[in-house]
Formats: sequence, C-alpha cells, structure tokens
Amino acid sequence: MKKINIAIDGWSSCGKSTMARQLAKALNYIFIDSGAMYRAIALYFIQQKLDLNDHIAIEKALGNISLSFQKNIQTGNNEIWMNGENVEQLIREMEVASKVSAVAAIKAVRAFAVAQQQLIGKNKGVVMDGRDIGTTVFPEAELKIFMTANVDVRVERRFKELSAINPLITTEEVKANLQSRDHLDSTREVSPLKKAEDAVVLDNSELSPEEQFEMALRWANEKINS
Ligand code: C5P
Repeated sequence: MKKINIAIDGWSSCGKSTMARQLAKALNYIFIDSGAMYRAIALYFIQQKLDLNDHIAIEKALGNISLSFQKNIQTGNNEIWMNGENVEQLIREMEVASKVSAVAAIKAVRAFAVAQQQLIGKNKGVVMDGRDIGTTVFPEAELKIFMTANVDVRVERRFKELSAINPLITTEEVKANLQSRDHLDSTREVSPLKKAEDAVVLDNSELSPEEQFEMALRWANEKINS
C-alpha cells in the first residue's frame, strides 16, 4: 500500500502530538514529536548555561548533542533520548517551556533539527507534528493539517496536564507561556509558524478527541488511496 507523510502544524497545546500519535498508531506509521527535539536542545543549552547570542558556542554544543526516539515498552510511546538519557519528562518542565522558543528561533538550531527530521521522513510513513513541518520539513507531504483551537480551551487542557506534574502551577502562568511561545514562533525570521497553503485547517475547540481523530484518519485514507 502507498505510504505518505503527514505534517501536523499549529499553535501551542492544540493537541497536535496526541492526534499525530493516534494517527501513526492507526496507520502503523512512525510518530515524531519535533517539538521534543527543540525542547531537548533547549534543555542541553540550559544545562550548559549557554549564552544564546554566542553563535560559536552554539555550533559547538550542537555537535555534542545526539538525539533519538526510542519506544517505551510499557506505554508503547516513542520517547526522546539525548546523549544516552531519556529526557521525555525533563523537557516538559516550565524552565524548558520558557526558553524553547528562543532556542528554536536560532538558525543553526533549526538547520540541525530539520536535517534529522528530513532524514527520518525520507522513506515516508511518518506522522510529524510541529510548527514548520508542512512549510519547511516536508513541503511535499501528501497530507498537511493545520490545527487550531480557542486559546482558553488550549490553556485549560495544558493546565490539566501540567498541574498533574506540578501542583503549584497557575493558569495565568500557563496562559502567559502559551501566548509568548505562539508570538515568538509565528514572528521569528526562520521558518515561522504559518499554515502551508495546501494545509487543511482543523479547529478542535468544539471537537472531542475521537471526532477529530476520525476526521484526520479519513483525510489520511483518502490520500493513501488516491
Ligand atoms: O510542540 P511543542 O509545544 O512541544 O514545541 C515546543 C517549542 O518548540 C515550540 O513552542 C516552538 O518554539 C518549537 N518548535 C519549532 N518547530 C517545530 C516544533 C517545535 O520551532 N517544528
């Protein structure tokens, strides 16, 4: 059967990764959370106390980062590893969330991540979610979905997830982080977040996870069978 690549882009906390993971499972495709790669790079830069204006140090640091996705046998989910350590949980912390968009705006960082993402997608059968997948990483993807949702709905969903890990977190903090990331991501110079011309828009403010999944799976099957 024909294999395709599926690009899922959109605003922060729209449920892109959840839907991408479900689609990959249903189609037996590889799921890649490209945001996890930028978060892991940001984590490394924080650990190394790197100055984001020091381009030479950044180039050098990128040469020392090895990223991979490995399946967690208990959950069946792909998790991100950096330099031999599983960092899937660490990268979700607020400190990383507050720095990641500045890190992801650096040209050398994007070149580093995009090259690896394109390699993963070269044999097709990949569902990747992020901000620039349909525009830059896989401009030839057969199916591109641009996800959006009302900001308050997004804050509420993200708050539920984060407060389970950090009970001290507030909705104001979560909202400020989402809005600042969305602003930085959509206004940066290199590969800003924007809908690819040929992407279909999925606004899930009023959809259940099942409804949006069924819709996306139908679009995917139409492309696979066309
Ligand atoms: O997807 P997630 O919200 O985990 O991504 C974290 C951050 O990584 C985003 O806010 C954005 O700054 C960056 N990112 C990006 N390009 C991608 C995926 C994520 O710039 N393809």
